[in-house]
Amino acid sequence: MKVAVLGAAGGIGQALSLLLKTQLPAGSDLALYDVAPVVPGVAVDLSHIPTAVNVKGFGADDLAPALDGADIVIIPAGMPRKPGMDRADLFNVNAGIIKTLAEGIVANCPKALVGVITNPVNGTVPIVAEVFKKAGTYDANRVFGVTTLDVIRSEAFIAELKGVDVSSVKVPVIGGHSGTTILPLLSQVEGVTFTDEEVASLTPRIQNAGTEVVNAKAGGGSATLSMGAAAARFCMSLIKGLQGEDVVDYAYVAVENGDAAYFAHPVRLGKNGVEEILSYGELSAFEQQAKEDMLATLNNDIQEGIDFING
Ligand code: NAD
Ligand code: LMR
Repeated sequence: MKVAVLGAAGGIGQALSLLLKTQLPAGSDLALYDVAPVVPGVAVDLSHIPTAVNVKGFGADDLAPALDGADIVIIPAGMPRKPGMDRADLFNVNAGIIKTLAEGIVANCPKALVGVITNPVNGTVPIVAEVFKKAGTYDANRVFGVTTLDVIRSEAFIAELKGVDVSSVKVPVIGGHSGTTILPLLSQVEGVTFTDEEVASLTPRIQNAGTEVVNAKAGGGSATLSMGAAAARFCMSLIKGLQGEDVVDYAYVAVENGDAAYFAHPVRLGKNGVEEILSYGELSAFEQQAKEDMLATLNNDIQEGIDFING
């Protein structure tokens, strides 16, 4: 198993790489790529942790060897938000970075499963897909927007609010990854119930949790440690699928005849990435309205990504 992390020297990249060094199956290769000159040092640092995962660092000119033979590519490369910014404000800087990295994947590991963390996820995932389509290598089952942070935040906030064991809390989160496009399905959380007031306050708390971190870091970036944990969890789900285990997780994926061209759903993962896009089930009246209200924003974000490549 080879996993490549693109943007590995950043806040998310380092946290994620640390977790993968300790969690990947024995014998795996972990390739750390970044344009920042510190990346070889990050790799040396991690290589001193005694696990059977081989770590190698790759600098700016070495995207090709970093990607060569990769089964999974996780991308946290790009600029994070500062207070006062929306994720959409990152589009102009990050779209070009994602395009370049997607072209590298086309050239070096077109069959890899690709997990995109870089914001705005609603638009960067369509960019990757359009680059792959142009190259004739697109497989919708292999491209994922990583929305796991919305899921783990929901788990943490609900356990805290209800005083229940966090390991027992499972929360479906659908839609996209920004503001109102993030839709936690609180009506489907088993073992706890919410009053209308709780739904009305917890839903925006989950939707604005990224901003909560951005403001608390006061100019020092956005979520890195929780995102590292989220990305590692998602990467391990992809690996279990590749190893033939039956695993269901949430991700922002291309959907035919769905609510939008890309939408976070529960997906059954397997040897080829998405084996099946599962239904998110029945929505409460509140969730149905929230879903309808978000679609214009989500569709606009998606179109921006598509137009960046084709416009
Ligand atoms: P960071 O600035 O700490 O790290 C970004 C890294 O990307 C840096 O090391 C930088 O050198 C590298 N980089 C820039 N251009 C590159 C390129 N062309 N190739 C390779 N590496 C490149 O930022 P961060 O806090 O790690 O956040 C990274 C991205 O993840 C941001 O866009 C942020 O908004 C996003 N993010 C997404 C989620 C999510 O839930 N999907 C959560 C948190 C952050
Ligand atoms: C998050 O949800 O924490 C990330 O998308 C980063 C951000 O800008 O909020």
